[in-house]
Amino acid sequence: MLTTSDIKQIRTQVKQWHQQGKTVAFVPTMGNLHQGHISLVEEAKRHADHVVASIFVNPMQFGANEDLDAYPRTLADDQQALVNAGAELLFTPTPDIIYPKGLDAQTYVDVPGISEQLCGESRPGHFRGVATIVCKLFNIVQPDVAVFGEKDFQQLMVIKTMVEDLSLPINIIGVATKREGSGLAMSSRNGYLSEDQKQQAATIKQSLDTLIMSVKQGLAIETAIENAQSTLKANGFKPDYLEVRNANDLSQVQDQDKQLVVLVAAYMGSTRLIDNMTFNR
Ligand code: PAF
Repeated sequence: MLTTSDIKQIRTQVKQWHQQGKTVAFVPTMGNLHQGHISLVEEAKRHADHVVASIFVNPMQFGANEDLDAYPRTLADDQQALVNAGAELLFTPTPDIIYPKGLDAQTYVDVPGISEQLCGESRPGHFRGVATIVCKLFNIVQPDVAVFGEKDFQQLMVIKTMVEDLSLPINIIGVATKREGSGLAMSSRNGYLSEDQKQQAATIKQSLDTLIMSVKQGLAIETAIENAQSTLKANGFKPDYLEVRNANDLSQVQDQDKQLVVLVAAYMGSTRLIDNMTFNR
């Protein structure tokens, strides 16, 4: 696998593949790869002849008091995992390569509406950072297909909306969340948790399961949410938000809506975890 921080080298290789009539799938990441990321690479392989990955801890999507500096950087392990999974090209730019004029002078991409709610409300500017880097990486790599995890459900919707609004010729594919045996959604941020906290954190999935089951059995959504929040609090979480929305556009649930998603963000100590599950009622 060729690893490079050189934009020209990425473009030359992808152009060569395209000239040979081959398709290219792209898996953007921030590194510290776990089985969830590997499942994205595996899915990417099912959709294209060649797989390109990127590792870039994107400063634009971190708020001032967030974990940009602490975010785990594990390049050597990540490279090995990507080779094993079958990626052939890895882009590892530095912030200077991506934002040579600095963040304040950088042109950005804003996806209105969907970026301002849920995680966007708690983390102002976060989805601007995500949309900007993903758009930029798309322009550098020029893939046919790009693969993202459904664990970041709102992020996936922001990206799909951006691709549609800007007419980008890229097929966006979402991959189901990978979970630990306990049900805890895999995340690089789980590494901040102690073993005890990890066990407690499994309550997130349990509360979502219970919420879904009770809504299906006819309990009012508001009551099911209150119950889930109580369970989370009783297990050491400080919920940021816990909401049920329309799964197709994240709008508020109307009586006729059948496809729903429950989304949660909650703090365990200083670690903010997110999760979601879609369901039909
Ligand atoms: O999901 C992530 O890891 C990041 O938000 C992404 C999509 C790589 C953009 O930095």
